[in-house]
Amino acid sequence: MNKNVFVVNHPLVAHNLTILRDKNTDCEKFNCALKRISYALFFEGTRFLPTVEASVSTPICDTKSSMINPDIEIIVSPILRAGLAFSDIAQEILPFCHIHHLGMYRNEATLEPIWYYNKMKGKIKNPECTYVFVLDPMLATGNSGYDAVHNFVKQNIPVENIVFISLISAPEGISRLNAAYPGLKIVTSKIDEQLNEKGYIVPGLGDAGDRIFNTVY
Ligand code: URA
Repeated sequence: MNKNVFVVNHPLVAHNLTILRDKNTDCEKFNCALKRISYALFFEGTRFLPTVEASVSTPICDTKSSMINPDIEIIVSPILRAGLAFSDIAQEILPFCHIHHLGMYRNEATLEPIWYYNKMKGKIKNPECTYVFVLDPMLATGNSGYDAVHNFVKQNIPVENIVFISLISAPEGISRLNAAYPGLKIVTSKIDEQLNEKGYIVPGLGDAGDRIFNTVY
């Protein structure tokens, strides 16, 4: 396994993933379980953020501690629509982040992404000091992930500063991103078996967007 792929191995993550996989889990329970896993994924994904030494006075004494470097910019970039499920948690954990939505849907015939939204106000001022979290619960073919990461790499953000956060990843998607972006970090809770002929992850959990937004009728 590539050293830049991080699988969050934790009994509570596994427990909640079982709830998410179950086809009988309703929308409310699904979103609660997803929220719980999101915290674990974000704490793992943000492990790589640069820190600075800080001094703090506790009620007992002065001590040295550390903080996230205040000079960096953090962009959280959910791929619409399923990535939205992660962005509330991201904003809670990283209250100083910028949220940059990327709108893409999948052409069901070609499995290629079709862009419909990508608006950034202004240019990235200091790419070297910008850190990006791309959010997509299902890393399947890696086609939309490839485009999303490219959107930031082409603005000169080092690929080493980019973390792709997914709930479930297919080996095909991981290979695609690893080959295109060797320095990219991928944080996920599980690597599943494969994709089926429709590009769905097996065993997976079905269409994440449908289950998050209750659009299964
Ligand atoms: N997108 C989903 O929502 N589910 C899959 O299995 C693959 C892509």
